[in-house]
Order: sequence, then C-alpha cells, then structure tokens
Amino acid sequence: MAAEPGPNFTTPRLRLRPPVTTDSDFVQDMYSRAAVMRFIGTGQIQPTRDQALDRIQRYRRLFGPGTGAWLLEGITDGAPLGFALLKHIPFSADISEADPSAAPDVEIGWHLHPDAWGRGYAAEAATELIAHARHCGHQDLVAVTHPDNHPSQAVARRIGMTSAGLTQRYYDTVCELFTLTL
Ligand SMILES: CC(C)(COP(=O)(O)OP(=O)(O)OC[C@H]1O[C@@H](n2cnc3c(N)ncnc32)[C@H](O)[C@@H]1OP(=O)(O)O)[C@@H](O)C(=O)NCCC(=O)NCCS
Repeated sequence: MAAEPGPNFTTPRLRLRPPVTTDSDFVQDMYSRAAVMRFIGTGQIQPTRDQALDRIQRYRRLFGPGTGAWLLEGITDGAPLGFALLKHIPFSADISEADPSAAPDVEIGWHLHPDAWGRGYAAEAATELIAHARHCGHQDLVAVTHPDNHPSQAVARRIGMTSAGLTQRYYDTVCELFTLTL
C-alpha cells in the first residue's frame, strides 16, 4: 500500500497539508480562473469537477521524499488559499535525450487563489518548503516562470532565489529560471 502523503506544516499564518477529494470545490474554482491559469501550462482554464479531482489525485501522487503539492489554508479559519509544490521538474526533450539518466532537478512552485494574492502567503509557504527540502537532503532548487510572470518572479526573489535568465532546459519551452543552493 502506498504511504500516506505528508508531512503537514504550519507557519505563522498557514497550514500546509496534502489535498483531499473534498477540496475539489476550491480546486475547481481556482483553476477555472483565467487569471490563475494565464502562466500555468498551456494557459487553458480547467473548469470541470473531473479536472479538479484529477489534479488532486495527481498532486497526492507527487508526495515523496522532499516532494509534494501542499494545499495552503488559513491557520485560524481553515480557508483554502492555494498550493505550494516541490516536484521533480521535467527536462526538455533535447536535454533528456542527450542524457537519459540525468537526475531530475527539484522545482519549487506556488499557485494562489486570486482572493489570496498580495498578502505574502506564497513566500511564507515557500520558505517552509525550502526548509523541508533542505532537511530532506536536496542540494538545490529551481523555480521557472513565464517570462512575463512578474508576480511569480517577485516571489522567487523574495525567498532568496537568484535569477539565472532565460532557459529552454525544462518543459520544452522558454522560462525565466531562478535557482537556490540549499
Ligand atoms: C505568483 C503568485 C503566487 C504571486 O502571489 P503574490 O500574492 O503576489 O505573492 P506573495 O504571496 O509572495 O505576496 C506578495 C505580496 O504580499 C505582500 N506581503 C508580503 N508579506 C506580507 C505579510 N506578512 N502580510 C501582508 N502582506 C504581505 C508583499 O508586499 C507583496 O506585495 P507586492 O507584490 O505588492 O509587493 C500569484 O500571482 C498566483 O498565484 N498567480 C497564478 C498562478 C501562477 O502564475 N503561479 C506561478 C507559476 S510560475
């Protein structure tokens, strides 16, 4: 039997926990918004309940040593706010074809519901996940953003990541790359 996803974390304002099926209303609402999806994946909104349930299952499967996708909720009211992630980032095809055995880099990421923007929650959650990544023995983290995603780039800088310019190393696309040595 697969291990239960975890661990959970608390920060001054947030609880970080694995998502569960009953989070689907929130997940459906959040990822059906163009403002959220604008710089994620293909940019297409994902408005259906099935897409939300798929995402929850996919996020639960991300949990492993130093990886996962944690739902962020307010510590006092339990209100869902978004997600923070640590995951193995897929190399672009030319990189993985050149070295199929290359160990994947670990990506840190953040998605917030628009109602939760502008309050420092992404940076607060990411700071906790950086400590977790360090504790789990990761040596480095990367973050990648769409070149125009300035709010996300601001989060990366706020948590101490260094801008490394544009890269085509991941996701078969051009991204702004940030790195952090742990
Ligand atoms: C990227 C994203 C998470 C950034 O959200 P954000 O709210 O700007 O980021 P933070 O949670 O770090 O909040 C930063 C703001 O909170 C403010 N803040 C920081 N700490 C605070 C605190 N303790 N109390 C109140 N406000 C605080 C900061 O002043 C900052 O405001 P500013 O940007 O106007 O200077 C958000 O735009 C988003 O979810 N976008 C859609 C998904 C997405 O694109 N994800 C990234 C993919 S690469």
